[in-house]
Amino acid sequence: MAQQLLRVQNFNVSSDGYGAGEGQTLERPFGHADPEAMFAWAGATASWPRRTDPGGSRGLDDYLTRDYGRNIGAEIMGRNKFGPQRGPWGVSGGPWPGPRRLARHLAALPKRPDSSAIDPLRRLAMHRTRRRVLPDPDPPDTPWRDHEWRGWWGDEPPFHTPVFVLTHHPRPSFALGDTTFHFLDADPATALATAREAADGKDVRLGGGAATIRAFLDAGLVDTLHVAVSPVALGGGSRLWESPDELLDRYHRDVVPSPGGTVTHHLFWRK
Ligand SMILES: NC(=O)c1ccc[n+]([C@@H]2O[C@H](COP(=O)([O-])OP(=O)(O)OC[C@H]3O[C@@H](n4cnc5c(N)ncnc54)[C@H](OP(=O)(O)O)[C@@H]3O)[C@@H](O)[C@H]2O)c1
Repeated sequence: MAQQLLRVQNFNVSSDGYGAGEGQTLERPFGHADPEAMFAWAGATASWPRRTDPGGSRGLDDYLTRDYGRNIGAEIMGRNKFGPQRGPWGVSGGPWPGPRRLARHLAALPKRPDSSAIDPLRRLAMHRTRRRVLPDPDPPDTPWRDHEWRGWWGDEPPFHTPVFVLTHHPRPSFALGDTTFHFLDADPATALATAREAADGKDVRLGGGAATIRAFLDAGLVDTLHVAVSPVALGGGSRLWESPDELLDRYHRDVVPSPGGTVTHHLFWRK
C-alpha cells in the first residue's frame, strides 16, 4: 500500500502567523479576523466549491483549491474548527439553543393569531425574551442537549469523508450528507492512526485550527503543508508560527506568490 500522508491543505495565516483572530463566537467563527479576506484567493478560483457563477481563475490558485480534496480519505480537526464551545457540552454552549431546541421553544410559545406574520428574526428575539419565563422543554440536566450543534457548515459539509474532531469532551458520532463526524479524545499519534484506518488507504488531511496543526507538527507527524500567508497582520488569536522559517530545520519549502496577488503560498515537505 502507498504511504498515507498527513497533509495540511489551504491553511491560511496572517502575516504574523495567526490562523484565526481573538474572540471566537457563534457569529464570528474566526474571531476578529475576516475569513472572506483570508480565503479570497481561493474564492476567486474556478474550483471554489461554493462558486455559484461560471468563471473564476485557473492556474496555481485553482490547482491548490482542487488539491484540497485529492486522495483525501479522512480529516482531523480541532474542536474549535468544529464550533465555538469550550468546556463540557451543554454548560458553555451559550445562549444559542440549537435549531431543534429553538423549534421546540417556538412551538411552546402561546399561539397568537398573527404569529405566521412574524418574521423569523423577530420570533428569535421573542424567544430569547420569553425563554426566561417559560418552562424549559428540556430540563437542565438533560444529557447531550448542546449536541444539537452540528458544526458551521449546514446540511452538506464540504469534507465528504469521516472527520475526527479532537476534544476532551467526546460526544456521539453523527452523519451529515456524506460526512461523518467522530469525536476523539486522543494524543496526535493515536488520532492519526485512527484516521488512517478510516481513510481506507488514502491520505489524511489535518484541517486546523492552528493549535491542532502546531501539536501535530511538534509530534513530527505532518508530511506536507500548504499554508497561504496573507499580507495583513492580525496582532492576536490562534497562532501557527512566529515565522514560517521555523520549520526549515525539518522541511523543504517552496515560496510562490499567488497569481491573484493576494497571498504567498508556502509549500513544505519533509526533509
Ligand atoms: N485559517 C484557516 O485556514 C483556518 C482553518 C481552519 C480553522 N480555522 C479557524 O481556527 C480557529 C480554531 O483554531 P484554534 O487553534 O483556536 O483551535 P483548534 O485547533 O481548532 O481546537 C483546539 C481545541 O481542540 C481540542 N483538542 C485539540 N487537540 C486535542 C487532543 N489531542 N485531545 C483532545 N482535545 C484536543 C481542545 O478542545 P477541548 O479541550 O475544548 O475539547 C483544544 O482546545 C477557528 O476560529 C476556526 O474558524 C482557520
